[in-house]
Amino acid sequence: MKISVRCVLPVFLLFTASCSDMMIGKAAKKATSPVHTILSPDGASELTFELADGIPTYHLKRGKIPVMNPSKLGFELEDGNLSEGFAILGYGKRDSISTWVQPWGEEKEIVDNHTELKIFLKHESGKRMNIIFRLYDDGLGFRYEWPEQEALDEFVIMEEKTEFVLADDHDAWWLQAYIPNRYEHLNIASKVSKIDTAATPLTMKTKEGLYLSFHEAALTDYSSISLINRGDNKLQAILFPWMDGTGHKVRAQTPFVSPWRTVKINETAGGLITNYIDLNLNEPSKIDDTSWIKPGKYIGIWWDMHLNTRTWHSGEKHGATTEYTKEFVDFAAKHGFDGVLVEGWNETWDGDWTKNANQFSFTKSYPDYDLEEVVEYAQSKGTNIIMHNETSTGIENYEAQLDEAFALYEKLGIRAIKSGYVGDMIANGQWHHGQYMVRHYRKVVEKAAEHGIMMNVHEPIKDTGIRRTWPNMMTREGARGQEYNAWSGDGGNPPNYVPTIAFTRMLSGPFDYTPGVLDIMLNDNEPGRDKNRVQSTIAGELAIYVIIYSPLHMAADLLKNYDANPVAFQFIKDVPTDWEHTRVINAEIGKYVTIARKDRNSDDWYLGSVTDEEARSFDISLDFLDEGKTYEAIIYSDGPNADWETSPYSFMRFKTVTDATKNLTLNLARGGGVAIRFMKK
Ligand code: NOJ
Repeated sequence: MKISVRCVLPVFLLFTASCSDMMIGKAAKKATSPVHTILSPDGASELTFELADGIPTYHLKRGKIPVMNPSKLGFELEDGNLSEGFAILGYGKRDSISTWVQPWGEEKEIVDNHTELKIFLKHESGKRMNIIFRLYDDGLGFRYEWPEQEALDEFVIMEEKTEFVLADDHDAWWLQAYIPNRYEHLNIASKVSKIDTAATPLTMKTKEGLYLSFHEAALTDYSSISLINRGDNKLQAILFPWMDGTGHKVRAQTPFVSPWRTVKINETAGGLITNYIDLNLNEPSKIDDTSWIKPGKYIGIWWDMHLNTRTWHSGEKHGATTEYTKEFVDFAAKHGFDGVLVEGWNETWDGDWTKNANQFSFTKSYPDYDLEEVVEYAQSKGTNIIMHNETSTGIENYEAQLDEAFALYEKLGIRAIKSGYVGDMIANGQWHHGQYMVRHYRKVVEKAAEHGIMMNVHEPIKDTGIRRTWPNMMTREGARGQEYNAWSGDGGNPPNYVPTIAFTRMLSGPFDYTPGVLDIMLNDNEPGRDKNRVQSTIAGELAIYVIIYSPLHMAADLLKNYDANPVAFQFIKDVPTDWEHTRVINAEIGKYVTIARKDRNSDDWYLGSVTDEEARSFDISLDFLDEGKTYEAIIYSDGPNADWETSPYSFMRFKTVTDATKNLTLNLARGGGVAIRFMKK
């Protein structure tokens, strides 16, 4: 519901500003004033735009604390600069507050409350460019807009020069950009000054205790942003180029907009997790009827291949056989899983499949896998097959088959695809994160929507909140997932991994981490991989289902390990993947995090808490529960001797009756955690 919209535009605008550009009000400030300021709805943040000697700049404060010192805005185009030599034609301001409902998500209702400032600029070359700022209580978004105009039609961005000049050398948690293996690395914790080039989201803590995260929203037809360190606390945008010798970063045609550049600002680390400005800055859903889009949990013929007990390729150990798939279907039906992922079902995994880029078939099964039969069998049991589309970055090959493959899947009644893009560069030499691939990933999501299919993308472009616009874009990888625990050779994801990524990767959106490995020591792993294991405890592994948000969550382990651990498995069966509310109870980046989430389809709450290598005890208030109601808390806890290194299987479940007036003590072992289901009585 829209509550209020206010807008101010100078009456003497020298060009046509349509009502969709800006609603026209009566009061007008002098358009030639070089300085324009807006306050956030709570009045505590202040954004100032200033045209300083023809150069667009902005700066930002939260209370008295400077968040961004004067920072330049602009571009280098192929045919000249768009970074100086500007004049202000006019400006507009408005407030907007509205609430919208996510068809699925971590929070059902999202409030969008912001103040907007739009600056209309004209360059000395005659080109027009506008900059739109949206200031929220918990952050800033801004984007560039090039309206349709005679002076600019097709154009090429050679570099975006947007600056983020920080007030200090803050603590930062980040991932190196422009390195092999994309976003699949452990986060680096350092001062900002140690950053070379960082991917986003890039998270920081200031000495005043503010938490900041830099990212982008609505990456649609552009190159993805990274931030390069220019010294003296200045970070600057850097875009992935087209790899065809042109050096082009973005090929555009007016009317055109950039993605939003976003800066989240929160007083607590947990506030970053419940910060929804990226979603707010995306367009509303383009899918009218979203009733076919359903969050859920899945199992699959997957972990076997990572342990090498089965293979993707054909032969004796082939995983994707009709018979083995039916075992998974029976298990899914018995335990209520919505899907069964089957990897290695289609021809072309033989040989080095990572090099099969332009050969993969997305319609032809191996002879020992009867696609129609397993799909029918799954559907007759009330579950479904999740199709796997590994491309090995053969984009042209995949795009050439999209229509035929997706039509086949639709005909079969398939509801979800897991796609994959293993490979450092795209087969034709393009970056994974440049405009070419941004276009590709979006094309597949749109095509999937046409066929009523949900997407789970591995080796994806980073999430920038497009699930609001395309709610069939469910979840993605884009980080080191569980698979690194099987074969990375570096021991796997360390205990501080989840308490770190909760404040970095997770800020961009849902993550298909594939949790739920209960055989922590990986007793079935291929000989010679002794260093690999899950660096957690049973309770810690369960907690991940609540901590890491994903509308599609996997129960990743071999089925026999669930049969052997029915008590722990019960939590995996019970935990939902669609939430009405999310509350961060406590958090310190890289050390611990506790999150409570309310199920969207029942009155139950769930809580997950994980810690790094330090054992911790928390006395938490249960005031998130409904007032005046009684709950049975089913607590899946580390056992008395639990320790991720020495006793990872030590685990206990106990129950207690409680309510919102009570506190609860959580005891987390070194590298462990706790998972709780609160059932309303
Ligand atoms: C990497 C993905 O992350 C993993 O889940 C998948 O099993 C392999 N690629 C094969 O597609």
